[in-house]
Amino acid sequence: MRKNILITGASSGLGAGMARIFAAKGHNLALTARRLDRLEALKAELLTAHGDIDVEVYALDVNDHNQVFEVFKKATKDLGGLDRVIVNAGLGKGGRIGTGRFEANRETAMTNFVAALAQCEAAMEHFYERKAGHLVVISSMSAMRGMPGSMNTYAATKAGIAHLAEGIRSDLIGRKDHDIVVTTIYPGYIASEMNEKVGQEQRLMVGTDTGCRELVKAINKEPVDAAVPQWPWAALGVVMKNAPLSVVRRMV
Ligand SMILES: NC(=O)c1ccc[n+]([C@@H]2O[C@H](COP(=O)([O-])OP(=O)(O)OC[C@H]3O[C@@H](n4cnc5c(N)ncnc54)[C@H](OP(=O)(O)O)[C@@H]3O)[C@@H](O)[C@H]2O)c1
Repeated sequence: MRKNILITGASSGLGAGMARIFAAKGHNLALTARRLDRLEALKAELLTAHGDIDVEVYALDVNDHNQVFEVFKKATKDLGGLDRVIVNAGLGKGGRIGTGRFEANRETAMTNFVAALAQCEAAMEHFYERKAGHLVVISSMSAMRGMPGSMNTYAATKAGIAHLAEGIRSDLIGRKDHDIVVTTIYPGYIASEMNEKVGQEQRLMVGTDTGCRELVKAINKEPVDAAVPQWPWAALGVVMKNAPLSVVRRMV
């Protein structure tokens, strides 16, 4: 069992949902986000329901890269080592390239890619030291192809972190003296703050609880990668990878 789990972006949506399920399974948690009040409330809720676990919370803006390393070190000390890190914090802002939305696109690129790189660096430093650990990167089904309009930068960052994870996996090939696993998760549509505006209209959207249960189930199997929920997203992923771009752009 990967007992001690750090989750970034745990103040809402998938991060908070996964925290609730891992807590119920007896995991100790280090939870980070900018909204510390949300994390404190979640901590109180989890400790009331499951008194026998440790839950630590940390204010962290993942775009403050020094703070990422500091908070990961502090969490490592507080929990007595990290067994799994879930790189989850993310942002869905953006606009069609060339329409004056550079600031929103840049913010998404920095948060979803450069800050995820900092989180992977901090996690892997610790895992290499311990020769053990599970790095989980939350990508997106949108990573399958280049996406149009406001999805463009977001999808590119999610493809970027999936490649980052694959590169780390490649670094581990042939190193026999460790138990380090790297998993890339490709969520489909799971209800959260990020997509609450499109929620009602999106036919393939699943509720937060259902989606997070599927996420935890997939993560605990420690696969190389997984589409979540598996149905219909694993099959749709094959279509998205192979269909003409003119078809793919109508699927999102
Ligand atoms: N929901 C879906 O359908 C779906 C599909 C594919 C992929 N994903 C991915 O799943 C992850 C979680 O998203 P969600 O759907 O749960 O959305 P959400 O409810 O908006 O949660 C996003 C989380 O990221 C944190 N965050 C954002 N910017 C941050 C920053 N600069 N520093 C630290 N934390 C930051 C937020 O916390 P604070 O604001 O408190 O800092 C929040 O906890 C994201 O990476 C997203 O791209 C979601």
